[in-house]
Amino acid sequence: MNAHTAGDWRAALTQDGSWTLLHPAHGEGCHSDAGAWTQARERYAAVIADLPEATKARGCVRLLDIGTGLGLNLAAALEACEARGLKLDATSLELDPTVLVAAFALFRREPTCSDGHRRILDALEARWEAQGPPPHAPATAALESRGHRLNWILGDARRTLLELSEDRRFDVVFLDPFSPRVDPPLWDADFLAEVARRMDPGARLSTYTVALRVRVALARAGLSVGQGPPVGRKAAGTLASRGGELPPLDERAGQRLARALA
Ligand SMILES: C[S@@+](CC[C@H](N)C(=O)[O-])C[C@H]1O[C@@H](n2cnc3c(N)ncnc32)[C@H](O)[C@@H]1O
Repeated sequence: MNAHTAGDWRAALTQDGSWTLLHPAHGEGCHSDAGAWTQARERYAAVIADLPEATKARGCVRLLDIGTGLGLNLAAALEACEARGLKLDATSLELDPTVLVAAFALFRREPTCSDGHRRILDALEARWEAQGPPPHAPATAALESRGHRLNWILGDARRTLLELSEDRRFDVVFLDPFSPRVDPPLWDADFLAEVARRMDPGARLSTYTVALRVRVALARAGLSVGQGPPVGRKAAGTLASRGGELPPLDERAGQRLARALA
């Protein structure tokens, strides 16, 4: 149970003119100061362009979105899919319903950055208005629109991921919890191993962290580890893949990872 309400999240404008929310207790923002929407597109949705041709040929991208937050990464994924004529089949996991309620209120006051984001917010909000927001609404909400699918699941991702059907697999993972310093559970090696297990051959994961212990956990779970793109002045982040080609880590980071795995 949260000790806070939707009204306790504070809105903050990021450097590209898009809005984010700051957590009521630890104050960390849901996105980089450099730009919430820039980060969603360049750090996360950009992975979709680099998927193997065999995945794109299926016409549908199966996304595991860890930490729905304001839904910006989901929106960027939706737009990246639509730009390539692909359908998005997203499973989005979120612990705290107050963040979405805060996002509904924020984007009633302020313009959102994209048509895709507006569509995602409207669809989720319409459902909550019909059924009442959690805890009245079911913890799972499936939305279907223009052939896309969003399965939004409320609860601790360490549990809800395990509750997905045993054969559920993904092409793309957005790993976007708060930082290991303020919110360590979703950086836990067992959780990351379960995420990795659900990635199909060629699948890609993106996260903003460059923490060695996260890279070690991803590598020990059988993934190759590479360097993510820099976003604004932020460090490069991390990409991981089951068998796919990735941009290599810089020399120093590669050596540190190799030493840690030896
Ligand atoms: C950095 S924000 C995510 C921002 C989001 N990806 C977006 O595009 O707007 C991190 C999110 O992870 C959620 N979270 C934290 N712990 C969680 C857990 N154990 N299971 C699922 N979600 C969790 C937080 O409530 C928060 O909404």
